[in-house]
Amino acid sequence: MQYAPVTTRLARLGSDKWVLSAAANARRLAGQEVINLTIGEPDVPTPDTLIAAASRAMQAGRTGYSNGRGEATLLRALSKRYSTSTGREIGIDRFLCLPGTQTSLYLVFMALCEPGCEVIVGDPLYATYEGLIRASGATPVPVMLSPEHDFRLQASAVEEKITSSTRAILLNTPHNPTGAVLTPADLDAICALAEQHDLWVISDEVYGDLTHGAAVFTSALANPAYEHRVITTASISKSHAAPGFRSGWLCGPAEFCTRALPLSETMLFGSQPFIADMTAEAIANPPTLAHAMAARMANRAAIIQGALDGVAGMRVHRPEAGMFALLDIRALSTDSQRFALDLLESTGVAAMPGASFGVALEGWLRLALNASDADTAEACRRIAEFAMRVRT
Ligand SMILES: Cc1ncc(COP(=O)(O)O)c(C=O)c1O
Repeated sequence: MQYAPVTTRLARLGSDKWVLSAAANARRLAGQEVINLTIGEPDVPTPDTLIAAASRAMQAGRTGYSNGRGEATLLRALSKRYSTSTGREIGIDRFLCLPGTQTSLYLVFMALCEPGCEVIVGDPLYATYEGLIRASGATPVPVMLSPEHDFRLQASAVEEKITSSTRAILLNTPHNPTGAVLTPADLDAICALAEQHDLWVISDEVYGDLTHGAAVFTSALANPAYEHRVITTASISKSHAAPGFRSGWLCGPAEFCTRALPLSETMLFGSQPFIADMTAEAIANPPTLAHAMAARMANRAAIIQGALDGVAGMRVHRPEAGMFALLDIRALSTDSQRFALDLLESTGVAAMPGASFGVALEGWLRLALNASDADTAEACRRIAEFAMRVRT
């Protein structure tokens, strides 16, 4: 049988990246104990108030077909929220509501890219980005992010990679897996380059409400000078502990939304009205759940640093935001997948290998910050013991 080339392009870019997560689940199903630090799940269930909002909407009959742009309730709530956060009017014609950040990004690449295009993206990068870019036929062009610059994408490094085929720069702030937060100056420098070379700036801001301590999140939309070429995406998956609801959106120029609308209509024929109503209610309120979760996660990053930094030559990179800390294991191994599989087998601690996030993090592990403080401390104790054994 014949298949479209997209199936070949994506062949190793889906669940292959999540081998450790699958191994952890298999272990748990087999009745073995696991401390699973692989996935960026919120550390609390979806709040009862949001489940009640969705149920109320279902019972009120909000279960019919919707439309490709989104329900009026949610569009109005998004417009209000973004107008408040940017300090200028962001109308409902600037949004498309979609099932999560992931689908929003997929739609953005389908609408902007084609075979022959290049998309510049920092490496390390979130595990699905290569697939998202390649699905459209475009080629990802990685720019190495380094701990010396706190893993923040440097405009000068981006500039070196711009060619006549470059179509877009993909940002992720706050960043998964490094927890880096781009500053207004970083964003301005990158957007100025985009302006100079007529490129799109796509910014995944799904962790925007999860800054730690004194870190301040700035959206790529903040500077009005660049808003005609900036598309941001986000969702309630992380901020409202509701990943299973699959509720997200993109915010872009009105013309982009108009051009991309038929893609949404073709793909989905609209999202669920009861989820839209629940999302509208969620984002109308201050992100207190996200802030409390971020504080707990910052504390766990500190626990990890206290327990593992300097042990057996390992170093801990503390995030400025988000749900992960990084562990530099280069003193012990340059094969992060092998190390992570051995760690799981020997200790029951599951962590993501840096290799799942590009080239730059080979020799690192990503540790999710969603286990309880006690489990995080216990995972560290086992990792330290394992590391000492590996070193000898
Ligand atoms: C950087 C990043 N973008 C997007 C997603 C997917 O988010 P959503 O649930 O909104 O599709 C994740 C999930 O872990 C993520 O870490």
